[in-house]
Amino acid sequence: MQKENKRLNGVGPLEYVRGFTDFLECKIDLSKRPLIPRPETEFWVEKAIKDILTYSSLIGCCCWQKKHQIKILDMFSGSGCIGIAVLKNIKNSRVDFSDSDKNCLEQIKINLKINRIKSGRYRIIKSDILKVINPSSPQFLRAKYDFVFANPPYIALKNKNKVQKSVLKYEPRKALFGGNDGLFYIKKFLKQAKNYLNSGGIIFMEFSPEQKKEIQKLILKYKYKNYKFYKDQYKKWRWVWISKE
Ligand SMILES: C[S@@+](CC[C@H](N)C(=O)[O-])C[C@H]1O[C@@H](n2cnc3c(N)ncnc32)[C@H](O)[C@@H]1O
Repeated sequence: MQKENKRLNGVGPLEYVRGFTDFLECKIDLSKRPLIPRPETEFWVEKAIKDILTYSSLIGCCCWQKKHQIKILDMFSGSGCIGIAVLKNIKNSRVDFSDSDKNCLEQIKINLKINRIKSGRYRIIKSDILKVINPSSPQFLRAKYDFVFANPPYIALKNKNKVQKSVLKYEPRKALFGGNDGLFYIKKFLKQAKNYLNSGGIIFMEFSPEQKKEIQKLILKYKYKNYKFYKDQYKKWRWVWISKE
């Protein structure tokens, strides 16, 4: 997320000026000014999609993918780039998009339309982290997922001076910062997310390289059983695979 995007002097990031960007061959409209999808995110999402496709073909001899609907949550969805790439690449997937920002929810609608995703394959949910999506309470949306993708706001406020000026000036603040140590949303999310996974369910989550150790502690604290950290294309720790079993 901290990687430099192309900038135009005085008028902001090229992607906002052009009005769109590409993400895993999906066209992502940015007219509502969500966070600009980053190449690091594209990198790990592509790998996660491949993992899911391999897994589903392995366990079902090809039938699983055809018959079983794969339920996915794109938490902190922003422009919707992650969930839309998933829907385009995994035939039998269904995605719940969730973000707390009204602008983002409108942006996701636009992007689903541009990418011609059928209406029965998704829901768009306004929620403060996982509050509205509750696996046990009848008055909320009930849901459990096979896979949860999360790219939370994770920049540490104490590192604000290391963030590019144009990012601070043009991109939405609430998409960037995760409290003083950057872990505010990650802690809350990991504490709750386990309850939202189906048996065998998996979380894919992006983070900032220096947070790896703290995230490992949180994974153990919240008693997830398995996890593996991965680097991005720039050889920096960037994403983690977590399962509860
Ligand atoms: C780092 S951006 C990720 C956007 C997109 N998934 C991507 O990868 O480009 C984080 C997103 O979290 C959302 N967000 C911030 N606080 C939130 C909260 N309390 N609950 C849900 N979403 C939140 C922001 O609106 C923003 O869209």
